[in-house]
Amino acid sequence: MIKAVLFDLDGVIVSTDHCHYRAWKRMADEEGIYFDEKINDRLRGVSRMASLDIVLERATRTYGDDEKKKLADRKNGYYRELISELTPADVLPGAMENLNKLKRNGVLVAVGSSSKNTPIILKQIGLADFFDAVSDGNNITRSKPDPEVFLSAAKMLGVSPADCLVVEDADAGIEAGRAGGMKTLSVKGAKGADYAAADLSAFDIYERIIR
Ligand code: BG6
Ligand code: MG
Repeated sequence: MIKAVLFDLDGVIVSTDHCHYRAWKRMADEEGIYFDEKINDRLRGVSRMASLDIVLERATRTYGDDEKKKLADRKNGYYRELISELTPADVLPGAMENLNKLKRNGVLVAVGSSSKNTPIILKQIGLADFFDAVSDGNNITRSKPDPEVFLSAAKMLGVSPADCLVVEDADAGIEAGRAGGMKTLSVKGAKGADYAAADLSAFDIYERIIR
């Protein structure tokens, strides 16, 4: 029985994809590194440093560890500028309806995100105190597709992994949920999930999966 729903943040609760894209693009352009939307798609669910390694596949020279740290910091600075503009209106269609319905019916809700910016984003969109647990890039050492972020969310909630449903927009996130022994719901075409929805606007998680 599903007792908790673990939501990915970027691309499921709020659309920060374009902010990540613009920040990486700005940094890549400055460095003369080719970067496009297709490469950006591969960064979904992947940690900041692992994302940088993917961006640097197109670099014409190698970067040392110190330089890489500086590039990641620079991208994050650009990203922070962009997410400082986020408001509750940026919560994706259907997300609030689903979150409220789950809560009303006694289902626990948590965030499971690779992002270290999760606390800032939750504050911007007015959900800093909404979730029963928040597991993010600040409390994990292994990024999706490793299940660590979701397993630690389940632990915070005191719910066994088999009683959790993971909602994800990234292939790596679905893989992480499955590796953790959880049920999975994909949005936006993420592959390999038990259930799929185009997005959360026309999908009632409680009625369709839990009840
Ligand atoms: C994930 C995004 O949620 O967070 C990735 O899907 C991103 O694209 C990752 O790289 C890490 O984010 P941050 O905010 O810690 O740089
Ligand atoms: Mg995502």
